[in-house]
Amino acid sequence: MTHIPNYDMSGKVCFMSGATSGINEQIARRFAQAGAKVFVISRSPDKVAATVEMLKGEGAEADGASVDARSFPDVEAAVAKCADTFGPLDMILAGQAGNFPAGAAQMSANAFKSVIDIDLLGTFNVFRAAVEKCTKPGASFIAITAPQATRPWIFQSHVCAAKAGVNMFVKCCAMEWGISGLRVNAISPGPIEGTEGMERLAPTEEVKQQYIEQLALKAFGNRDDIADAALWLCSPGADYVTGTILEIEGGCNLGDASTAMKL
Ligand code: HXC
Ligand code: NAP
Repeated sequence: MTHIPNYDMSGKVCFMSGATSGINEQIARRFAQAGAKVFVISRSPDKVAATVEMLKGEGAEADGASVDARSFPDVEAAVAKCADTFGPLDMILAGQAGNFPAGAAQMSANAFKSVIDIDLLGTFNVFRAAVEKCTKPGASFIAITAPQATRPWIFQSHVCAAKAGVNMFVKCCAMEWGISGLRVNAISPGPIEGTEGMERLAPTEEVKQQYIEQLALKAFGNRDDIADAALWLCSPGADYVTGTILEIEGGCNLGDASTAMKL
């Protein structure tokens, strides 16, 4: 029997952190195009306002709030506002991250802590607040992780540690929350064209080519490669998928992309 993916998200409610630029903004756009009501948070009020306008332009019901994901009370208030406005949360995506190249022996304790707090504590805060307000059974939780979670990269000890924590947190939540009919997964993008992340890690064409040499598919991915995975993870086609780290990486960790890292 042929399986036809169902990407109709009409009436579904989606809460997304870090969705006001880059990869996650495109996921938000695609969720909106599929009919979801989308609530976005990030720090910058201007970025939140622009993204909400963009989502409304796609015909979606949309709202947002200026929130630092490191603050649990602020995340909790945003989740409550989303649920009050749109109803229980069906899709929850934690996507905020911080990154800069820095050696472990050179960066300050606060530099290390900043990335741990944004990526790992922020993911906890979003999932912890959302699990109180989500559709049970049925909600789909997604964290955005990175290849650094599963392979050591030079000048990325902070990111490797944070994203490895994200992966393990996702698997623990999948174990604990499966009994309530909740699915919890992560998506691990490889290097994605035209994003802030790759502007920071591959600021020159020469460094970019060094990354590409290490990729099995010999090309950066694009934002829709990741949005396609997010749509699938929230569709009935993925209703037996939980605790998975879905690598959409172009084979990034089959080679050693970290050899391209420069300070
Ligand atoms: C060393 C640095 C640094 C750098 C900041 N710090 N930049 N240390 N090298 N390049 C230090 C600061 O000196 C400070 O320590 C501490 O980090 C916190 O800096 P703040 O600017 O006060 O923090 P904050 O305003 O919270 O900003 C967080 C940030 C920033 C992570 C530093 O860059 C940010 O907002 N990033 C969000 C956007 C982003 O990074 N996008 C890329 C995600 S891509 P001291 O000791 O001085 O107080 C990604 C994966 C890509 O994650 C994977 C590709 C395969
Ligand atoms: P990006 O454009 O910099 O997006 C980061 C988003 O997070 C923005 O909306 C930013 O908005 C928000 N944000 C940052 N710090 C925050 C905080 N403390 N609280 C709330 N929101 C915060 O990044 P990107 O390159 O598209 O990456 C997106 C995700 O994909 C990240 O999780 C990253 O680790 C992952 N990833 C990216 C790549 C890549 O190739 N780019 C590869 C692998 C994994 P504000 O500035 O308004 O807060």
